[in-house]
Amino acid sequence: MNSVALPAGVALPALGLGTWHMGEAARTRAAEVAAVRLALEIGYRVIDTAEMYGEGGAEEVVGRAAAEALRTGAVTRDELFIVSKVYPHNASRGGVAAACDRSLRRLGLDWIDLYLLHWPGPHPLRDTVAGFEALRADGRIRHWGLSNFDTPEMKALAGAGGERCAANQVYYSLSARGAEFDLLPWQREHSMPLMAYCPLDQGGLVNEPVLREVAGRHGATASQVALAWLMAQRGVMVIPKAVREAHLRENFAAAELVLDAADLGAIERRFPAPRRKQPLAMR
Ligand SMILES: NC(=O)c1ccc[n+]([C@@H]2O[C@H](COP(=O)([O-])OP(=O)(O)OC[C@H]3O[C@@H](n4cnc5c(N)ncnc54)[C@H](OP(=O)(O)O)[C@@H]3O)[C@@H](O)[C@H]2O)c1
Repeated sequence: MNSVALPAGVALPALGLGTWHMGEAARTRAAEVAAVRLALEIGYRVIDTAEMYGEGGAEEVVGRAAAEALRTGAVTRDELFIVSKVYPHNASRGGVAAACDRSLRRLGLDWIDLYLLHWPGPHPLRDTVAGFEALRADGRIRHWGLSNFDTPEMKALAGAGGERCAANQVYYSLSARGAEFDLLPWQREHSMPLMAYCPLDQGGLVNEPVLREVAGRHGATASQVALAWLMAQRGVMVIPKAVREAHLRENFAAAELVLDAADLGAIERRFPAPRRKQPLAMR
C-alpha cells in the first residue's frame, strides 16, 4: 500500500477508515463495532473519527473495537493511528484540552495520534494551536492538524505559531477536485498530507459509468477506481467510511489497484482538473 509521510517523518498508510454516522443509534451499535473490529483484522490501521460523530457515539464505537483488537493482540497500540477532531466551538486554548479528555475517555485510550480542528471556527487560530501544542507536550496527542482549511487559511498558520501542523483533511474526490488548484500544491510544498474525506462522494461515485468502464478492464469496481485514483496523487490519503463487510474488503483492496494511462485519460475527460480557484467544498 502507498504511504504518506507526516512532516515529522511518520509514515501513514494511504487508506484508512471513516466513521461518520457511526454511533448515532443504539440498534446499529453492535454492527458498527464489529465493522471497525473487522477493519482492524483486514489491516486498516488509520481510523478517522470526531467528537461530532454521533455526539461522541462514533468515538465509543472506535474505542470498543480498538479495545477488543488490543486485547486479542490483533494490533498493538503503536500500530494503530487514531484521528479525532475537536468541534470549532470547543477549540479555545483550554477548551481543546477538555474536549480531548472527553474524547480520550470515550476512546478508552491514553493518546490520540492526530487531533484536528474540525473546521475554522470562532476562536483565534493562535489559541487553538496553543491548546494543541500543550496537549502534544504532555502526550495526550501525538500530532495535530486542521480540517476544511483552504489555502489562505493555511497560509495564516505561519502567523499563529502553527509550524507543527501535520495534516489538513478536506473534501476531495473525483467529483470535487477543487483542492488540486492551489491547496494540494501548497500542502505538498509543506510536506503536509491531504486527508481526502468523502472519497466516494458518500456513495455518489459507486455506479458512475466511466469509473465502471475503467473498473471493468481491471476486474475491479467503480469505488476501487475512485479510491485508487486519489491514492495515486502524491501526498494524498483516503478515509472511506464503510460498515458493510464487502465494502470494507473492497476498499482495502483498492490500494493494490494500479491505473494505466488509458484509464487516467478516460477519468480526466469525465472529471477534468480545476482550471481556476474554486471555494473548498464542504460536507
Ligand atoms: N473533516 C470533515 O469535515 C469530514 C466531513 C465528511 C467526512 N469526513 C470523514 O471522512 C469519512 C468518509 O466520508 P463519508 O463517510 O462522508 O463518505 P464516503 O466515504 O465517500 O462514503 C461512505 C458511503 O459509501 C458507502 N460505501 C463505502 N464503500 C463502498 C463500496 N466499496 N461500494 C459501495 N458503497 C460503498 C458506505 O456504505 P456502508 O457504510 O453501508 O458500507 C457509505 O454509505 C467520514 O466517515 C469521516 O470519517 C470528514
